[in-house]
Amino acid sequence: MTLAEEFPGVRVRAPGKINVFLEVGARHDDGYHELATAFQAVSLFEDVVASHADDFSLAITGSVDVAGVPQDDSNLALRAARLLQQQTGYDGGVHLDVRKEVPVAGGMGGGSADAAAALVACDALWGTGLSTRELHALAARLGADVPFSLMGGTAIGTGRGDALNPALARGRFEWVIVPNALGMSTPKTYGELDRLREQHADAVPPAPATPAVPSAVLQALRAGDPQMLAHALHNDLQAPALRLRPDLREVLERGERDGALAGLVSGSGPTIAFLVDSAAAGRELADRFERDGIEALPVHGPVHGARVI
Ligand code: C5P
Repeated sequence: MTLAEEFPGVRVRAPGKINVFLEVGARHDDGYHELATAFQAVSLFEDVVASHADDFSLAITGSVDVAGVPQDDSNLALRAARLLQQQTGYDGGVHLDVRKEVPVAGGMGGGSADAAAALVACDALWGTGLSTRELHALAARLGADVPFSLMGGTAIGTGRGDALNPALARGRFEWVIVPNALGMSTPKTYGELDRLREQHADAVPPAPATPAVPSAVLQALRAGDPQMLAHALHNDLQAPALRLRPDLREVLERGERDGALAGLVSGSGPTIAFLVDSAAAGRELADRFERDGIEALPVHGPVHGARVI
């Protein structure tokens, strides 16, 4: 029996996310901003299959356009595998098959989910047996959103967004995701927020000294009440994202006109997430977009974090 037959690949599934609330504070010297966010993991998943190999390699497929995903050593899933190897001293490599469902460069943490899935998959494949805490520490080194994809569910993130506390969330929230063919750069959106705060203080409020998730958001999540949550949705990155991409405003307005309780830019954009009050309303809104040739995906949250399937 060959090695590959004896040890077939390990498949791990990790979710994308929506920031139902995101407040951005001051920029630190390392370029990162202090923030407070409420994450919800939603039912768009990245699947990573890790199989034994002598070196490190990667293949990427997906239901979304994967042309923009780097295939070289800068790929976040490969970086995750290498980081785990360095930290554990494991003597070998891995081949990663990544199947993407989360829009690329869309503000939904797809790359972060790949990294979270790769960490869990390699840890299982190699038998390195890291604790949840150790995996979380490695995840935080790979990117601010990677720890949340490990954890899943609904959580409050502070610091860079990587200091996590689970939030109580009852029931299931229904969303419609409208991806956009043109990805956006996260640092650019944050940079535009800094610029607006400096140069357009009349139109954009200043950075809060201590970003915090308001109690209205926590209450709405705890109550499982979409109407309440619709009133509390907020994203400080929405204004800069709309400045950079004015065309997104029309998508937002259309969704709200066509039955969404509320819409918001997801993370640093350009994906728009609409909150709806039932699965049927989600399907109806998605159908309306699709009839006009605009891709729209009904999803729900919260869902589980990265795990072997
Ligand atoms: O950690 P990650 O690679 O996802 O972050 C991408 C970029 O987003 C950072 O380089 C930074 O420009 C911006 N960012 C930030 N503050 C955060 C998280 C991300 O400014 N808390």
